[in-house]
Order: sequence, then C-alpha cells, then structure tokens
Amino acid sequence: MKVSTLLTGALASLTAAQSPAPYTDAKSGITFSTFQHSSGLFFGLALPTNNTGNTDFIATVGGKGTGWSGSVLSSFRKAAQYGSPAVTTGTFSQSPIANGTYVNSTHWTYTFLCQKCIQSDGTTFKTTDQTANIGYAVNANAPSQKTNVASTVTKHSDAGQVEFDLSQAKSDKFDTWKAYAAPKTAHSFQA
Ligand code: HEM
Repeated sequence: MKVSTLLTGALASLTAAQSPAPYTDAKSGITFSTFQHSSGLFFGLALPTNNTGNTDFIATVGGKGTGWSGSVLSSFRKAAQYGSPAVTTGTFSQSPIANGTYVNSTHWTYTFLCQKCIQSDGTTFKTTDQTANIGYAVNANAPSQKTNVASTVTKHSDAGQVEFDLSQAKSDKFDTWKAYAAPKTAHSFQA
C-alpha cells in the first residue's frame, strides 16, 4: 500500500463525525442519545415518547476522569456577538438529577432536567422535528472565575454542530426519570 493511501485513511478516520448513540448511565439508569466528543467529553439527550406539546428534556454532560475535574457550574447563556455569552434568564429552568451527578474512577457527569427549554417558536428544535442540530463548544482552559456561574469563558478550541435523531432520544420512562430531579430550580451545582 502506498504511503499516501495510508495517510488518507488515517485522516478520514480522524475527521469522521461521530453520530450520537444510546448510552445508559449506570447509576441513574437513564438512557440518553449521546454524542461522544474526541476530547472525552460527552453530551446526552433524553425525551419523552410522546413529545407533542412537551417542553422539557433531560440532559447529561460529562468527561473522563483521567485528569482533575473540579466543581460543575451551570448557567444559561445567550450570545449577542462573537464573544463570551452573558447569563440569560427566562421561564426556562434547570434542576440537577442527583443520582446522575457524580464522579467515579472513570468519569464525572452532571445530569439535569431542563424545563421549558424546548421552545417551538424556532429558538430551539421543535417537538415535532425528526432531528435536531445541537451546537457545542469545548476548551480545556478554565473560566476566568472558576466558582462564578457568570464567569466569562474563553473561545472554544473546538466547536461544531451534531445532528440528533430525536426518535433515538425518546423513552417511555421519561416521567420516572423526570421525577428524580430536585424540586427547586438550581442555577449552579457542585459535584
Ligand atoms: C468566548 C467566546 C466565544 C467566541 C469569541 C466565539 C467565537 C466564534 C467564532 C469566531 C466562530 C466562527 C468560527 C471560528 O472562527 O471558529 C464561532 C463558531 C461557533 N461557536 Fe463560538 N465563540 C464563543 C463562545 C461560544 C460558546 C460558549 C458556544 C456554546 C455552544 C459557541 C458555539 C459555537 C458554535 C456551535 C460555532 C459554529 C461551529 C460550526 O458549526 O461550524 N461559541 N464562535
């Protein structure tokens, strides 16, 4: 085989997009359609089977436990320009799911219920959509103020969009999982 063929093969495998695939969290038992980023970070999405009129989803974010992961802080942000997006508020809220939020020997993960987060006016995907393109951004640099949920963040070292087949995120166990969420809205959470 020629060297050029080998190189092309290696590049193709490096740049191949990874489609979200089912992943069940061992502690919470929640099954997510999960995007696995090459950095080891992941994002999973769960929806109810009957999605008509639903505005809520459950999500999990996490990463490998090979380095040091500190506290998990979460906030809603809205970008007005190419720059660190400001904290935003609205009717939407976020509640941690305790049995899906932990650190173990292989990874850390934060699981939450996002209520009124699906906005069918086109701000997000629509409940009737077959697929949703969800953007992500990652950077190994810490936020400038690590314990401040409103901290500025550095521009991503990698960003992109992932297509989720929403049918693969749906489960008839959604209401059971939703009941795991803490009753009060939390804007920050420490793992
Ligand atoms: C610190 C502030 C940020 C700056 C200065 C910034 C800047 C930019 C710029 C200039 C681009 C165009 C492509 C490039 O030049 O890389 C871009 C793309 C993008 N950014 Fe940001 N960004 C910031 C934060 C964020 C955050 C917090 C997110 C959260 C999801 C995000 C998500 C994206 C996505 C999804 C794209 C498009 C990638 C694609 O589809 O090709 N960015 N950003």
